[in-house]
Amino acid sequence: MLDLLLRRAVLPDGRRADIGIAAGKVVAVEPAIAGTAGREIDLDHRLASPPFVDIHFHLDSALSLGNPRFNRSGTLLEGIALWGERKPHLTHEALVESGLRYCDLAVSQGLLAIRSHVDVCDDRLLAVDALLEVKRRVAPWLDLQLVAFPQDGYLRSPGAAANLERALDLGVEVVGGIPHFERTMQDGATSVRALCELAARRGLMVDMHCDESDDPLSRHIETLAAETRRLGLGGRVTGSHLTSMHSMDNYYVSKLLPLIAEAGVAAVANPLINITLQGRHDSYPKRRGMTRVAELRAVGATVAFGHDCVMDPWYPLGNADMLDVAHMALHVGQLTGREDMAWCFAAVTTEAARIFGLTGYGIAPGCHADLVVLDAADPVEAIRLRAPRLLVVRRGRVIAERPAAPVRLDLPGRPAMLEHRAYAPRGGRDG
Ligand code: FE2
Repeated sequence: MLDLLLRRAVLPDGRRADIGIAAGKVVAVEPAIAGTAGREIDLDHRLASPPFVDIHFHLDSALSLGNPRFNRSGTLLEGIALWGERKPHLTHEALVESGLRYCDLAVSQGLLAIRSHVDVCDDRLLAVDALLEVKRRVAPWLDLQLVAFPQDGYLRSPGAAANLERALDLGVEVVGGIPHFERTMQDGATSVRALCELAARRGLMVDMHCDESDDPLSRHIETLAAETRRLGLGGRVTGSHLTSMHSMDNYYVSKLLPLIAEAGVAAVANPLINITLQGRHDSYPKRRGMTRVAELRAVGATVAFGHDCVMDPWYPLGNADMLDVAHMALHVGQLTGREDMAWCFAAVTTEAARIFGLTGYGIAPGCHADLVVLDAADPVEAIRLRAPRLLVVRRGRVIAERPAAPVRLDLPGRPAMLEHRAYAPRGGRDG
């Protein structure tokens, strides 16, 4: 007997199916499943997707907006300075509380896996301890993966190297870095080499903030890819931001892109943050700053999108909504081709899950019964509407639920009801 049966679902690839769930797993995905279940829900041709995955986030700073003050210039560097002002006032309890609050929000949005960087440039490692506690407590609802992130520089900040190793000893599972924030290009390259060697020694993944600037000569991604090849780390390394690539010379990029793809380095763009923080030294025209997403895809590199920040020193907005992220990426990257738009949905679900290393992810027999039902007919409509999440399921259990809300215009001489959702393109829906 099934625990949960979702009837008339539309899957992200356009297939229509019933989804049968038992003992926390998907057991059947078929056009019409016979029999009954503990609970049966008719999705009425709405999109059922594997949950959203945020592959780049900062949970230690999230929801701290205005504390101890607002970012007056709105720039990346004032944000880093402001975070430095906040650090001495952090407490374990406050960090755990804001971390849990953000996870509540994430779950309600169908966001069930978050890779969060955690700052290790604080000798007390308060944020590390607090986020490890949050990770443990939210595990039944959400997969939280932590990256040891030397915010003030691995070489530049005294103690950062030792603290980073201590964080790994405590259970932080990914090696971070920030080579463009070191004092010299050479220090940046040295930090990349040292951190990749550390990851190789410990058998860990790497995810570095890399070249988050408009400087076309910030080329640490080249060193990251070369070190990934040298140490055989392909498939375990991510370059986050890569915004300098937006401004690089096209000839250089034509050499760089195949190196990234052949090395097996994944790329993560953070469109909400890139579009607001980059181009700050430009007058007009102002650069967008987001990395070359279409070109990276074209050479076969794995690419995904992250939220990066929500209500913190760097970004005053955000709502844990990965559809906002996909929507901004689609615009900034001019990804408006039909296939490109559908891929933007994949970049906040399946592609991000691949980089994360999630196992049992997907809506197929044998996978964990984790999914989100959206009030939309397909992935593109989900992005267009930033569609409401009607149902969130984790390990077969409904953990968030809200009714669909059609718009009713009861005006004389007009149709009694107009549905807000489901305007199919002419010629029928894709798939
Ligand atoms: Fe970041």
